[in-house]
Amino acid sequence: MNENQQICFTDSTGKELFSLPDNGVLCLFYGNGDTHFSLCRFLDQTHAEIDGVKYAFDSNGYMQTGWVTKGVNDYYFNEDGSYNAEKKRPLIALTFDDGPGQYTDKLLDCLEENNAHATFFMLGQLVGQYPDEVKRMVELGCEIGNHSWDHQDMLNLSIDDVIKEFGDTDQALIDACGQESTVIRPPYGDCNDEIISAVGKPFILWSIDSLDWKYLDADLDYNGIMNDSNLGDGAVILMHDIHGPSVDAALRLIPDLIAQGYKLVTVSEMAAAKNVTLQTAKYAEFWQSALDAGYVPGYNGNGSSEDSSTDGTSDGSSDDSSNGDESDFSDGSGDGSDGSESDGYTDGSENSEGDFSSDSGE
Ligand code: NI
Repeated sequence: MNENQQICFTDSTGKELFSLPDNGVLCLFYGNGDTHFSLCRFLDQTHAEIDGVKYAFDSNGYMQTGWVTKGVNDYYFNEDGSYNAEKKRPLIALTFDDGPGQYTDKLLDCLEENNAHATFFMLGQLVGQYPDEVKRMVELGCEIGNHSWDHQDMLNLSIDDVIKEFGDTDQALIDACGQESTVIRPPYGDCNDEIISAVGKPFILWSIDSLDWKYLDADLDYNGIMNDSNLGDGAVILMHDIHGPSVDAALRLIPDLIAQGYKLVTVSEMAAAKNVTLQTAKYAEFWQSALDAGYVPGYNGNGSSEDSSTDGTSDGSSDDSSNGDESDFSDGSGDGSDGSESDGYTDGSENSEGDFSSDSGE
């Protein structure tokens, strides 16, 4: 049989009852005295839609419940296995400045144990002293950030010197771990448009300042962050891994934030999950309110993005099979009534990792 041929089911008079869509199969369910056929459509190896409801399965075929991670996004599946589009996992980006240093490895141990990611804004002059730590950051999925060579205030330097500060640091990072920084944090947060465009990368500030460099006290650091009114989805937290108390605080914060339901991600993971294409611009947080208000450069909108749908990935289910009322795995735009072509399995990010169809091999 031609595998592209559509299979139709008819009743005894020949009237068409339904046809199987692409990748569709008819499943027989039985148990508890109830036997019925269901229409299943496999979205990829681990996701299927059964009678219009989406489910996730592990590699052994067992139905999954709770949070299931796919690329940069997490999706929640109810007790009965059905996908819950309403439930969003709040994200936090922990960032550590001024290192690497003697406590960095202990912090990396904690991140690894908790399956968490962080972003490290490092000083070029220290990178060569801790190359193993920098390599390990990459291995653990942490993000490599650039905090200048020697922590001068960039506003006091010539543009040529600013470029050299970040360029030399990038070279040190390449020497240590094979890759340059993806994001920049200027010392003291001091920068201007001329500096940002000369350096040509996203400048990441913060929405929660732990003031850990001032407290030098793990309890104060911990309580300050946990009680900060800005603690919530989309927050970027500033800490310093060169201070022992800061790292001690982080060792408590990391598991406790996760226990509160947060997912700890890198800045770039946060941006991708929030449908933001990072620009050569300044960022401080990724709150939904800031996104909605248009304060976040490169935000592609809530839902399928128009300008990043050309990543060429296909989940094998034809766009035409989407009738627009399917629930959306992307980011819960929920209105579903915009008639958009997307059938909702891409997160709109430039990379295709958030796509339910692609097995991200990273
Ligand atoms: Ni600093």
